[in-house]
Amino acid sequence: MSIFDASGHEQVVFCHDPESGLRAIIAVYSTALGPALGGTRFYPYASEEEALTDVLHLSEGMAYKNAIAGLDHGGGKAVIWGDPGVDKTEALLRAYGRFVESLGGRYVTACDVGTYVEDMDHVARETRHVSGRSPESGGAGDSSILTAFGVFQAMRAAAQHRWGAVDLAGRTVGVAGLGKVGRHLIPHLLEAGADVVACDVDPAAIGRTAANHPQVRLVADADELIASGIHIYAPCAMGGVLNESTLKTLDAEIVCGAANNQLAEPEVAVELERAGVLYCPDYVVNSGGVIQVADEYDGAFDFKRAERRTLGIFATTARILERAKGEGTTPVAAANAIAEERIAAVGRLQRLR
Ligand code: NAI
Repeated sequence: MSIFDASGHEQVVFCHDPESGLRAIIAVYSTALGPALGGTRFYPYASEEEALTDVLHLSEGMAYKNAIAGLDHGGGKAVIWGDPGVDKTEALLRAYGRFVESLGGRYVTACDVGTYVEDMDHVARETRHVSGRSPESGGAGDSSILTAFGVFQAMRAAAQHRWGAVDLAGRTVGVAGLGKVGRHLIPHLLEAGADVVACDVDPAAIGRTAANHPQVRLVADADELIASGIHIYAPCAMGGVLNESTLKTLDAEIVCGAANNQLAEPEVAVELERAGVLYCPDYVVNSGGVIQVADEYDGAFDFKRAERRTLGIFATTARILERAKGEGTTPVAAANAIAEERIAAVGRLQRLR
């Protein structure tokens, strides 16, 4: 997308607060389903152009994620341009919160790369339109427990589609990334009787996994992981991991993981299909996080209610895979179509209210 092409977006706001040094961009892609919801990324972009390109792309993605998760939220996202380790201060976060407030609820923010629950606590001192706060401040806290639960549900749906049964017993699952989501996913897999192979670049994450789950086979890196006879590949670290090179060595029949933006290029979805790999769209699989964040914003957070909604990822994934099969298209194309249909149908009703 060209940086000058924000024509699909409802609103793009450039925020500048010289006193705190805040430079941020808030992008509202769509409010057709409700207030645009999406996190704030705090990242040292090389240029404002790069920050703008990222926020336009991410906010559009959130419209699809929120729509397919069945939420009454449109898609939005924000980026703060800076180094979180150096530039993040209470003053900056509060200045940012005032910009969010100035949009009057059209945009609701939460955590993303480089922002944490304690940051949202600061933002919340300036605006009500924030979620992902700490439990001490009345928020739901870390969303990775439900994100991992949702990944597990999507995996069961994919197993049913591919092998005719949700059962993961005897299947080997490769988990790349043992951070917040990966570490919560592993107990679900072990409990389901799966064999787990895993890797991480961080020795502390490896050590923690070895201590807590000695039955997990740890390998050096993701290259070794994907070629180690796994049935399911669960990318739970960085984006862009599905590319031409990984396609050559990927053993798995199913890819289903939490990482955002797993496809290096959109065309990789077609390549995976051709190679007989069932790819579960990342934004569907990892929507447990935003389901939690929406639950916190829409009312007093109720873990059980959010968990029940996250359980719905099983049915959503099954529906997407069935539709893709029926229409001879990729699961990504099927998921996008379902999201667009909901935005068109329900968005029209919303405006009538
Ligand atoms: P995290 O930062 O807690 O964990 C990521 C882990 O991946 C770290 O342990 C890191 O050392 C490891 N890692 C980094 N590069 C790696 C590589 N090349 N190979 C193997 N491991 C590597 O992040 P978190 O929260 O677990 O998120 C994981 C992914 O899921 C991210 O892409 C995130 O955007 C996505 N996601 C997370 C949600 C959440 O609720 N935490 C919600 C939706 C998406």
